Amino acid sequence: MQLWLDTAKIEEIREIASWGILSGVTTNPSLMQRAGTADRKTVTQQIAEVVGGPVSAEVISTDCEGMLAEAREIVTWSPHVLVKIPTIPEGLKAMREISRWDPPQEGWPVPRVNATLIFSPNQALLAATAGAAYVSPFLGRLDDAGHDGMQIVRDIVEIFSIYGFDCQVIAASIRHPLHVTQAALAGADIATIPYAVLKKMIQHPLTDKGLKAFLDDWAKVAGK
Ligand code: E4P
Repeated sequence: MQLWLDTAKIEEIREIASWGILSGVTTNPSLMQRAGTADRKTVTQQIAEVVGGPVSAEVISTDCEGMLAEAREIVTWSPHVLVKIPTIPEGLKAMREISRWDPPQEGWPVPRVNATLIFSPNQALLAATAGAAYVSPFLGRLDDAGHDGMQIVRDIVEIFSIYGFDCQVIAASIRHPLHVTQAALAGADIATIPYAVLKKMIQHPLTDKGLKAFLDDWAKVAGK
């Protein structure tokens, strides 16, 4: 399972990328607001430069024509960019259209869509059928509403496997480290993880205690 970061803050991305484990990044309008910028192009290009892998940039329009107009521009920003489109009827129309586009430049990949705001297996089935290359089930928001978010991830993974959909599942709206473990066990292709959760994933008190004991013992024997 690939590990992506769910943030638009470049300093967080630089730090986690330096660990050598980061494969991609997702942004959305709320994350842009938290990063304090509306300059999607500059932020997306900066992130793509650091990560060298997929970076999702979300459209703001809610009608197909508006989404397509935004997508036409977004796909020129970087060969790594994914166009993030909400999974609504107008979004399905846009996904179908974008999936038929040629690469914006020679040597670049074909434009790829990340279908966002997915809360049911049927929405994922529709998005994949419309040509989305990625679907993003929001498991934390489902948990918040009293549902089992991880079951949606399991169901989508199973459906895509049965029918051989060429569409990757991004476990999104992750709230804690256990979500990441469970998403991996569910067979998600990718988990997009908030910075604070990723930092918790590396922490364990027994690691700290064990390291301290090793260093203390070494200091004793080396100082002899
Ligand atoms: C990722 O693509 C989503 O935008 C993100 O995971 C949503 O997470 P949230 O529910 O914490 O806002």
